[in-house]
Amino acid sequence: MSKWIAVCKSSQLKKGEMLDFDHGDKKILIANLDGKIYASDRICTHADADLTGGILTEDGVTCPLHLSTFNLKTGVPENLPAEVPLQIYNVKIEQNEIYIEVN
Ligand code: FES
Repeated sequence: MSKWIAVCKSSQLKKGEMLDFDHGDKKILIANLDGKIYASDRICTHADADLTGGILTEDGVTCPLHLSTFNLKTGVPENLPAEVPLQIYNVKIEQNEIYIEVN
């Protein structure tokens, strides 16, 4: 059964910024892409690099190790070498607090 968990105040994550968030054994990336918040797993599906060390692009995050870019709306890698999508999480903002939906 899924539940919504609070991550941080929306004011703490400005445009173009990322933060890491752990929930149990899940390592999650929260990103502000031009004012819209996205959440995905933050460990690259290719070779375990932490994507918070990468670069935010127009609609995704580029891995710092081998430069695959993952679309943060879908989790799908847009270029090799990564081929497996990231898990993405639903996001909502209520009363200036960012929440993500986890199982
Ligand atoms: S570890 Fe991310 S593309 Fe290789």
